Amino acid sequence: MNKIRQPIFDQICVVGLGLIGASFVQALVQANQDTPLMRRIVAVDSNERSIRLACQAGLIAEGHTDLSQVAQGSDLIVLATPVQSIPKLFAQIHALSTLKKLPEHCIISDVGSTKADLLQAARQIFGQHHRFIGGHPIAGAENSGFEARKGDLFVRHKLILCPDNHSDAKDIQKLQALWQALGADVVLMSSDRHDQVLAYTSHLPHLLAFSLTHQLAEHDDNLDILRYAAGGFRDFSRIAASDPQMWHDIFLANKTAILQALDEFSAHLGEFRQLIHQEQSQSLLAWLGKSRDVRRHFGHMLTSHDTSHHSSTHQDIYMTNQSYHIKPAQSILGTITVPGDKSISHRSIMFGSLADGVTKVSGFLQGEDALATLQAFSDMGVKIEREGDQVVIHGVGIDGLNAPNKPLYMGNSGTSMRLLAGILSAQQFDSVMTGDVSLSKRPMERVAKPLRQMGAIIQSTGEKGTAPLSITGGQSLTAIDYTLPVASAQIKSCLILAALWAKGTTTITEPEISRDHTERMLNAFNYPVHSKDGVITVTGGGRLTACDIIVPADISSAAFFMVLAAIGQGEGLTIKKVGMNPTRTGVIDILTLMGADISITNETVVGGEPIADIIVKPSQLMGIDIPEHLVPLAIDEFPVLFVAASCAIGKTTLTGAKELRVKESDRIAVMAEGLTTLGIECEVLDDGMIIHGKGKAGETTAIFGGGVIESHHDHRIAMSFAVASVRASDDIIIHGTQTVNTSFPNFANLANQVGLNIQVIDE
Ligand code: S3P
Repeated sequence: MNKIRQPIFDQICVVGLGLIGASFVQALVQANQDTPLMRRIVAVDSNERSIRLACQAGLIAEGHTDLSQVAQGSDLIVLATPVQSIPKLFAQIHALSTLKKLPEHCIISDVGSTKADLLQAARQIFGQHHRFIGGHPIAGAENSGFEARKGDLFVRHKLILCPDNHSDAKDIQKLQALWQALGADVVLMSSDRHDQVLAYTSHLPHLLAFSLTHQLAEHDDNLDILRYAAGGFRDFSRIAASDPQMWHDIFLANKTAILQALDEFSAHLGEFRQLIHQEQSQSLLAWLGKSRDVRRHFGHMLTSHDTSHHSSTHQDIYMTNQSYHIKPAQSILGTITVPGDKSISHRSIMFGSLADGVTKVSGFLQGEDALATLQAFSDMGVKIEREGDQVVIHGVGIDGLNAPNKPLYMGNSGTSMRLLAGILSAQQFDSVMTGDVSLSKRPMERVAKPLRQMGAIIQSTGEKGTAPLSITGGQSLTAIDYTLPVASAQIKSCLILAALWAKGTTTITEPEISRDHTERMLNAFNYPVHSKDGVITVTGGGRLTACDIIVPADISSAAFFMVLAAIGQGEGLTIKKVGMNPTRTGVIDILTLMGADISITNETVVGGEPIADIIVKPSQLMGIDIPEHLVPLAIDEFPVLFVAASCAIGKTTLTGAKELRVKESDRIAVMAEGLTTLGIECEVLDDGMIIHGKGKAGETTAIFGGGVIESHHDHRIAMSFAVASVRASDDIIIHGTQTVNTSFPNFANLANQVGLNIQVIDE
């Protein structure tokens, strides 16, 4: 799997081994082990000791106090010295390139805090066709110098790149790729915009901290007054302890933007003064209240991005990648049990935690999604013991949750985040929820909006109504009447949960029936929820009583094996004790309509949920128009149903399934991409897909070719294409299969047990 790739750069020369420069070098060396970034690093610093230490630490190949002694041959020079020294360095670099000691394509960048002045200097020294692209990592630490370096300083921090109109697109891409490999979140903006933004968010606050500290010092030559200064002064003035030379340079370099920000600030301060002078109590309170809300919100954003609090937020970047290498298989045979239902497992933890008494759960899904919910409730002080699929929850009662001391990490799990949004909106404490890359792209306003109508204060702080979610506690919620804009069990459940604390009776109307585990389980916990003809009512103010939960096997996981048995040869499969809740069995209805040979036996009811064994035999499938009313009842099964449709005779059409676009991935686009790779003709619709099945009467030959598939952080995409291998002519490689652990930890083993040929490769 480890393809040999060319590094992005041949030699990187870093000028300045202070905190930022040395951290950059350290991060480059670390990241170079995974992604080839450069062949060699050299460094320049006026301090010989730093160079010696960097050489000893194996960070640089060579170093010198004089740039002209080591920079030659570099195709990237990064200046990490004070802003004011940079024009001089530009001149030295220019001299080197005139002597042809630098390749023509050598890019020059920096890490300084001002950008427009440097761009101007670059234009003056190198001309219009300069190759300077300024960079500014929004990261730092109070300590300085080589020894303070941190290899993860840039992880999850913004890195602003400031190209100009003449910058080469390839140069921008290379720098972007380099910083992204160090974990930074790269943003492009013009130099002028950068300087304006930074004037407000960094330079002005520093200036004010210096100014107030200076003012106090003027009051009292002995600094005696500081004896009486407490937390307020300490917090406000912390940044005035920064390097004076550096700030002197920045204030002069960004003079125009800073003066503008300062003038605005003075005017604003004048207004504040006026409010106090005229004792305009109402307005003063409103001003202060607004600032408090903004600052609180910002505090949430900060904690949710603060990686030091939370090791698992590193997960997206450092999580080991896994892939499946699958050889074609044909014959399928066996009797299997698939893991516990994901939806029910989530809810068992939530309701068990909020109940009075001890709840025992058996058959709990030990997948990452359900474990994220479990972890969240542990973080809120609930004692939860787990041994394999047996869980004991010591309920804390409806008002017993405690404030978590860090953001709650929901991983890949939309259900955890959306349902918890309902619970957290009603708590007395503030909270923040974060998720992985896939979850951070999924729409959260669909729950935030109705929650706000109930009186919640909830912000989707991501860029497009997405996570992290920041929730302000201490609100009292009121019941609402709400018609769901889409059939979604997650929105419905979120609102039912918020309604438990709301004053009055909440009424939720569903456009179509979606899974009803929340309603069923709340009733089992002795909390009445009424549901009739798609209208659900629940009254706030009650309590939950602990009860034991038996989690049935997940029909959504069984679906992969149902399709596998139907499209494969051999004797087929028996899948034991699968949850048969009528709001979940759409996949059986659809496969049956397609002509699958499915029989259901041993039907019983366990813990309020119907269960049965499902027997599926090899079948001649026919293309169909999937009835739209079945869509919400099979919402998670379409990826694997598309695989079934590819093996059917004739065309299968799915419509009315726009929701698939906002699942763990855009399942319409991503499935179409993978199916096309494997040689299936399909047409993408806004709300579904048309698949031209390649099945032929009486034939069980290969339908799919071989190919490389990307899972796009979506477990069900990965598992669906693994199923396709039973009708493939060649090897299928699926990248990003680590996400399968979110819902089906044992999938590859179980699939191999019944006849597939999956090799799991950790990369
Ligand atoms: C779920 C509801 C569905 C489903 C998800 C689990 C639940 O999502 O896709 O896997 O447990 O409530 P939507 O409610 O967004 O359709």
